[in-house]
Amino acid sequence: MSTPLTAPTHGLAPGVPLAARARALTKAYGSGETAVRALDAVDVDIARERFTAVMGPSGSGKSTLMHCLAGLDTVSSGQVWLGETEITGLNDRALTQLRRDRIGFMFQAFNLLPTLTAAENITLPMDIAGRKPDREWVERVIDTLGLRDRLKHRPAQLSGGQQQRVACARALASRPELIFADEPTGNLDSRAGAEVLGFLREAVDRLAQTVVMVTHDPGAAAHSDLVLFLADGRIVDAIPEPTAEAVLERMRLFAGAGTGSQPPPIEQQPGHDGTGFDTTHRS
Ligand SMILES: Nc1ncnc2c1ncn2[C@@H]1O[C@H](COP(=O)(O)OP(=O)(O)O)[C@@H](O)[C@H]1O
Ligand SMILES: [Mg+2]
Repeated sequence: MSTPLTAPTHGLAPGVPLAARARALTKAYGSGETAVRALDAVDVDIARERFTAVMGPSGSGKSTLMHCLAGLDTVSSGQVWLGETEITGLNDRALTQLRRDRIGFMFQAFNLLPTLTAAENITLPMDIAGRKPDREWVERVIDTLGLRDRLKHRPAQLSGGQQQRVACARALASRPELIFADEPTGNLDSRAGAEVLGFLREAVDRLAQTVVMVTHDPGAAAHSDLVLFLADGRIVDAIPEPTAEAVLERMRLFAGAGTGSQPPPIEQQPGHDGTGFDTTHRS
């Protein structure tokens, strides 16, 4: 197991404990003329017990980065570590076990099993792994997410917001070290979204978990400790201790810094809020 040679990036203090890191991480889809380089030699450090947000235009590689860091997708080249374990090069079996024990993932599409109740969906990963849930913790997750009176419902009987809260509870239930959330508030109304963000924040501050979250929303990003900006498969900027205003300003800067031909005035572009970032939650 080798250690990365390059220094930490994005202004993290040297020696800060890391939950995950990648070096020269490249992911290409397809081959030949149609090949897409979704990630282009990314170096990234994810600090332990911190809340990191990932932002960037639609198609910039945010989901791909999350999937590669979580060991859900193979890489084309480069290395990824979870803690001190290099996961690039692990066999499927070892990777599955490590993911099961240490990672929680909230997908953009909630990925709930339709035939199971909310309660069954929440503990499913642990049931599969044959692990006994920490009942007290699971109850706390359920209450904090306001799911107590929905536990016997199946996904089809729940609103989108409630389904996302079940997906959030499922990711948190096994108390994983590292939680990846891909636009967890994208399909929620603002109240449900604020609850989910508050819970992720609390998981970091009070329960020593690590969260990495993709979002398009400067207000959501402001809940994080560090915002990383992706463009064309590269990390192009970072804002520590972000405010919504600072994030929005940076998004506007990127939107205005496009290469090539002049874009139409942003307010005339469909699905955009004037930032150049996708706000349609489809990416
Ligand atoms: N399974 C796939 N097959 C082919 N291309 C893909 C696949 N997944 C993602 N891509 C491409 O990789 C790039 C990055 O995608 P993605 O990581 O989903 O971006 P984001 O989450 O930032 O919107 C995009 O150009 C996208 O079209
Ligand atoms: Mg995405």
